[in-house]
Amino acid sequence: MNTAQTQATQDIHAFTEQARDAIYQAIFSRRDVRGQFLPTPVPDSVLSRILTAAHYAPSVGFMQPWNFVVVQSGAVKQRIHDAFAVAHAEAADMFEGDKRNTYRQLKLEGILESPLGICITCDRERTGPVVVGRTHMKTMDLYSSVCAVQNLWLAARAEGLGVGWVSIFNQSALQQALGIPKRITPIAYLCVGYVSHFYAKPELETAGWLPRLPIEELVYFDQWGQHDDRQALIGHLRRDQAEAQETANLALMQSR
Ligand SMILES: Cc1cc2nc3c(=O)[nH]c(=O)nc-3n(C[C@H](O)[C@H](O)[C@H](O)COP(=O)(O)O)c2cc1C
Repeated sequence: MNTAQTQATQDIHAFTEQARDAIYQAIFSRRDVRGQFLPTPVPDSVLSRILTAAHYAPSVGFMQPWNFVVVQSGAVKQRIHDAFAVAHAEAADMFEGDKRNTYRQLKLEGILESPLGICITCDRERTGPVVVGRTHMKTMDLYSSVCAVQNLWLAARAEGLGVGWVSIFNQSALQQALGIPKRITPIAYLCVGYVSHFYAKPELETAGWLPRLPIEELVYFDQWGQHDDRQALIGHLRRDQAEAQETANLALMQSR
């Protein structure tokens, strides 16, 4: 195949350049939001779109193991916040020295400030015991619900909504707060709402907790652990990672 033919094949199913840019903008400027929520209500039309995006996630054997608990009640949010507070105090004690102090200063949830909570769950028995694709690796259903989370997160970013994933709970306490049966696994409690601004970088990166890893160090060739700097892909990865950050910076500047 010559270069022109290769280009033609690529273009048949590709989105327009503008549509592609929009997808990447959502991906690179998505943030985990904790502290910038506004009380502005989220219209049902918008909520419906992001939930539908979640429902169109891939799932093992097309199980669609998710449910979505939409939390609007202040009293329920308070119960969830109480459950967070218990686990958060326990979590702080798991870190040593300076890390413990830094951990205590991190804002890790926006449960009460965000107008909406959405708990995404996984019903591991939804389509019976034998599921196409889950016959050997049993956790695939859990990963399917995680795909729903990511779909919702990206759609929300495109809608101008912030999302913050809160996972610092004892699982049973979260289940109790939301009346979720024991056989249903809570996957994510998401704080959702409009925001004053998005940051260009993860808050944990800015706080000096951890840096973003260089992608080229994470890519192996043919065998686990095998790097190959001679591959042309490596140069592309370096450039694309730098561009990804520029896209996030630009989105931040535009939102100010
Ligand atoms: C499975 C999962 C659980 C998470 N739990 C929490 C959490 O409990 N509290 C929090 O503030 N952020 C939580 N986060 C958000 C991460 O801290 C965040 O995604 C990461 O720091 C990168 O930042 P970014 O999402 O803004 O790119 C979670 C993210 C994932 C994927």
